[in-house]
Amino acid sequence: MSDIQADSLEQLRLRRSAKWRGFDSDVLPLPVAEMDFPIAEPIKRVLIDMIERSDVGYGGIIPEFAIAFSKYAHDMWDWDIDPEQVRLATDVGVAGVEVLRAICWPSDKVVINSPVYHNFYNWIKEAHCDVVDVPLLNDSNGTWTLDFVALEKAFADGAKVYLMCSPHNPVGTVFSREEQSRIANLAKKYNVVVISDEIHAPLTFDNSFVPFLAVSDVAREVGICITAASKSWNLAGLKCAQIVTGSLDMKARLDALPISVPWRASILGAWASTVAYNEGREWLADVMNSLSDNRAFIKNQLAIHVPKARYFISNSTYLAWIDLSAYGIEDPAKVILEKGRVAFNNGADFGPAGENHIRLNFATSQEILAEAIQRMASVLEA
Ligand SMILES: Cc1ncc(COP(=O)(O)O)c(C=O)c1O
Repeated sequence: MSDIQADSLEQLRLRRSAKWRGFDSDVLPLPVAEMDFPIAEPIKRVLIDMIERSDVGYGGIIPEFAIAFSKYAHDMWDWDIDPEQVRLATDVGVAGVEVLRAICWPSDKVVINSPVYHNFYNWIKEAHCDVVDVPLLNDSNGTWTLDFVALEKAFADGAKVYLMCSPHNPVGTVFSREEQSRIANLAKKYNVVVISDEIHAPLTFDNSFVPFLAVSDVAREVGICITAASKSWNLAGLKCAQIVTGSLDMKARLDALPISVPWRASILGAWASTVAYNEGREWLADVMNSLSDNRAFIKNQLAIHVPKARYFISNSTYLAWIDLSAYGIEDPAKVILEKGRVAFNNGADFGPAGENHIRLNFATSQEILAEAIQRMASVLEA
């Protein structure tokens, strides 16, 4: 296996995504979770072929997509899915909001674990539900784990849904089979639906990822998976995701979804994702090599140039969660952007435990990472 190289800064600055157009031209952008690598050749080919034949109408129901994901899930995670239980959606955000709308009433309680993907707060608000935060526990080795006592209390206090981020963005925790089995049993006991957002699953650095619906019959009874190929194969702009169930009862419950949901996915996204699952595995393995090198690289660069930063390498995602509290700056992302001209996510957007943290996207070149860390150092170590 070989590493894959990110595009040059010059090429990247020609991109039209928000990541590359959202900042002044002297800013290095490392927030939005998309990659600076060129997309996989088989995906490029299917897209070019479709464009050349003006094949850009409505996609509708695409059995090949469900079959491709089922096969991928079986091969990668030993998870057997009935393709009939895979539904298309526009993106994981839309999938999350539509599923919440289908199973909740306004003001129902939805449990999350901060610090967590900031849009979870927005999805829950969009579905007119209420957030119940059960923060993750953090130990001195940088391990973030579930607080089962608080989780059970939140379930017992009337939660309707547990919106789980698995693997967890931004901290990278990969939940074990045992932990997830415990969650499933608690969910059944208290009549909670578990929505497991598994968009980062293929970005796990070893074989430790376990899909929630592969954990047990109970998990299949209480759970719904929302996921997409978009994060791992860098297709976010193509708009396609999937909602997966593992029991006939849960499938029937989701018949409450508007019939337009699959029609709102993009035909380009659906076919690009189908090819990703079928033919994109080698490319992703190469990308994972590069990402693995990059996590070690930033660990090393931070230790040299920003020594008071605390960063623990995690086992998934290309997002580094960095604690800058030792520098005593109230909003480090803002100060580093203003003075150092490098953009990171503001940790506080991920919940209260994110104060004084930044999130850095390392799906880029080591040249850009080195420059970003230098710029950070020029502000923090000045
Ligand atoms: C956990 C999680 N869910 C969903 C998304 C967004 O997915 P989509 O663009 O398909 O809405 C992200 C993006 O980073 C994410 O980290």
